[in-house]
Formats: sequence, C-alpha cells, structure tokens
Amino acid sequence: MTELLIWALLFVAAIILIVSLQVLKVIKIFIKESISPSPFATAEEKEQFRLLAAEREAEEKAKPSIWTKIMGLKPMTEEKDLMMEHEFDGIAELDNPTPAWFSVLFYGTIIFAIGYMFNYHVFNWGKSQEEEYAVELQEAEEARIAFLQKPGAGGPQINENNMEQSTDKEMIQKGAALFKTVCTPCHGEHGEGGVGPNLTDEFWLHGGGAKDVFKTIKYGVPEKGMVAWEKSMNAKQISDITNYVLSLKGSNPAGAKAPQGKKE
Ligand code: HEC
Repeated sequence: MTELLIWALLFVAAIILIVSLQVLKVIKIFIKESISPSPFATAEEKEQFRLLAAEREAEEKAKPSIWTKIMGLKPMTEEKDLMMEHEFDGIAELDNPTPAWFSVLFYGTIIFAIGYMFNYHVFNWGKSQEEEYAVELQEAEEARIAFLQKPGAGGPQINENNMEQSTDKEMIQKGAALFKTVCTPCHGEHGEGGVGPNLTDEFWLHGGGAKDVFKTIKYGVPEKGMVAWEKSMNAKQISDITNYVLSLKGSNPAGAKAPQGKKE
C-alpha cells in the first residue's frame, strides 16, 4: 500500500515538473517579447525565414539517426575508406567499426563484474548461495515452529509435541470413520494390517506413544509407502485417528498380520 502511494506521489511530482517547465517556457517568451517585440515580417523576410528553415531541415536529415549510430552503420559513400587491402574474386572486406550496442554490452559486463566482485568477494556485502540457503532454512524452521505453536480454531493446535491420548468416545468415533475411508486399504478394516503393518499389536516400527503415532500419520513414511497425511488432513483429524488407532491395542482382530518392529 505504501509502495503504491510512493509511486503515485512520484507520478504526480513528474507531472508537476513537466507542467512547470512548460510554464517557464511561456514566461520566457513573454519576457523576451515585452523587452524587444518582434515586428511583423515583410514578404521578403518571410521568404528568407522559409529558406533558412528548409536549410536547417536538410542539415537535420543529413545527420545520422540514433539507430545508425547504435548499429555503427556507415553511409555507402564512406565505404571506400573502409575497404581493407585484401580482395578475392572482386569480393572485398569492409573494416566496419564495432557497433555501439556491442561496445556498451561488452564494457557493461566488465563494469558489472567489478561491482559484483566487490559486492560478493571483497566487502562480502552480498550473501553467497550457501549463506542464502542457510538463512532460508533458518527462516523456514522458525516459520514451522511458529506454525506449530499457532493457536488453531478453538484451543491450541495439536501437534506431535503436545499430542496426548484421549479416550473420548466421540473423538474415537470420528477417527474410526476417517480410518474406514482412508486407511483400510493398507491397514485392514480393523487395523489388522495388510500392505501396512498391524496397528493392533504391541509392536511398533515408529513408536507406539500418542506423539509417535501422531507423527507417523502426519509425516508418513513416504519411502515405505505410508502417506504423509498432513497434506490432506488437519491436525484435529490426525489427532482423532491417532486416538482411534491407540484404542485398537489388544483388539486382536481376525487375520492379524505378524508383528513388526519393537515391542512397547
Ligand atoms: C498406501 C498404503 C497406506 C495407507 C493408505 C496408509 N498407510 Fe499407514 N503405513 C503404510 C505402510 C507401508 C507402513 C509401514 C511403513 C514402514 O515400513 O516404515 C505404514 C505405517 C503406519 C504406521 C506406523 C506403524 C508402526 O509400526 O510404527 C501407522 C501408525 C500408520 N501407518 C497409520 C496409518 C493411518 C492412520 C492411515 C490412514 C490415515 C494410514 N496409515 C494409511 C501404508 C499405508
């Protein structure tokens, strides 16, 4: 918003500048005319003025245009001065000067390089790629911690550091419903296991505490085929499922998969 305001002010200032320059011009003409008013011209003088103007115009035309200057082009009439000594089969080479645009670019890179060197290597004002990376990592870490600590709607946001098991029936029911829709393909209808491990026994690959299970569900084990559910579920939902999974302990469902991991 402030940026927009600054631009608007600059724009207004520029317009005021242009207008005042025009006003200045008019005032100058006024002063000149009041000191020595120019008389009405006679027919001869008018003719003279016309000739002068035509002359000036012709001169103006003879001057090379900006484009010609930038491209370093020479008029055809000067070509004979540019001709180089060698010639083959009537084909000659012209010693054209380096075009201005090329020189500007070339010397520009040198000047840029000097600035670059002083900025990054002599005075170390600018950050190197590694330093930028480290700073960004640091910022991301701070943002992550701030995000985890941010109070969610209705109470503090649940995360893997403050998750506590709850035996609240309603929560477990909600978790069970979610489990049925997303987790059963891999962990079985009752958590007995399938592609994924059995979630009803006392053996855990990634820890069986409330915080551990929450963390496993949230971040997944992508390299082993367990999805990171934080992308499609909010913290409350993950917490509900965690409570449901924890409630399954010892339920001994039919067709339970063999234990995996450490006993807890
Ligand atoms: C695409 C298949 C798949 C889906 C869907 C899936 N999981 Fe998993 N899950 C796995 C696999 C595979 C592992 C084992 C990871 C390993 O070997 O480290 C796993 C591991 C786990 C673990 C850790 C078990 C342990 O022993 O530490 C938990 C808890 C878990 N899943 C819960 C869930 C929940 C809750 C859902 C639903 C929100 C879910 N999973 C959905 C495949 C899946």
